[in-house]
Amino acid sequence: MSNTERTFIAVKPDGVQRSLFPEVLRRFSQKGFKLVGIKLTFAKEELLREHYSDLQSKPFFPSLLSYMMSGPVLATVWEGKDVVKQGRALLGATNPLQSAPGTIRGDFALDMGRNIIHGSDSVESAEKEIALWFKKDELVSYKSEMYGWIY
Ligand code: PPS
Repeated sequence: MSNTERTFIAVKPDGVQRSLFPEVLRRFSQKGFKLVGIKLTFAKEELLREHYSDLQSKPFFPSLLSYMMSGPVLATVWEGKDVVKQGRALLGATNPLQSAPGTIRGDFALDMGRNIIHGSDSVESAEKEIALWFKKDELVSYKSEMYGWIY
């Protein structure tokens, strides 16, 4: 069932430090997505190397790792219809120069190296990232569309 698609969304250390995480939770919840996992955590280097494994050869890789370890990350998992693609749309383009006003990065970010938030770019990446950041028993399953208002 498409309603059970999940994505991984992380508020990065700058987003946490700037108290932007309530805004992120509000936008995802009010769009109609269901929060099924959440934790504030200091990401370990080993986890980040795995999370960003496809970027290892990029010149910005070391600074990306130190940025991601500069403070706590709010790791979340959201569930709902087309949540991977819809989540990326809520985030806005990776480069804040290209992210439209009305998106999270478009409204709050100026710098590629401080772009507030991460979102899985495909269903496959979401599965990999959720398994990396969360244990199975840290994710909850509950019914929130009792009256079918959203979908
Ligand atoms: S690339 O180069 O096309 O693979 O990069 P992209 O897919 O646009 O971004 C992948 C993640 O790398 C982060 N990124 C950077 N961080 C720090 N400095 C620089 N210059 C930089 N360029 C890209 C970008 O924010 C993406 O992180 P996530 O967490 O996936 O959003």
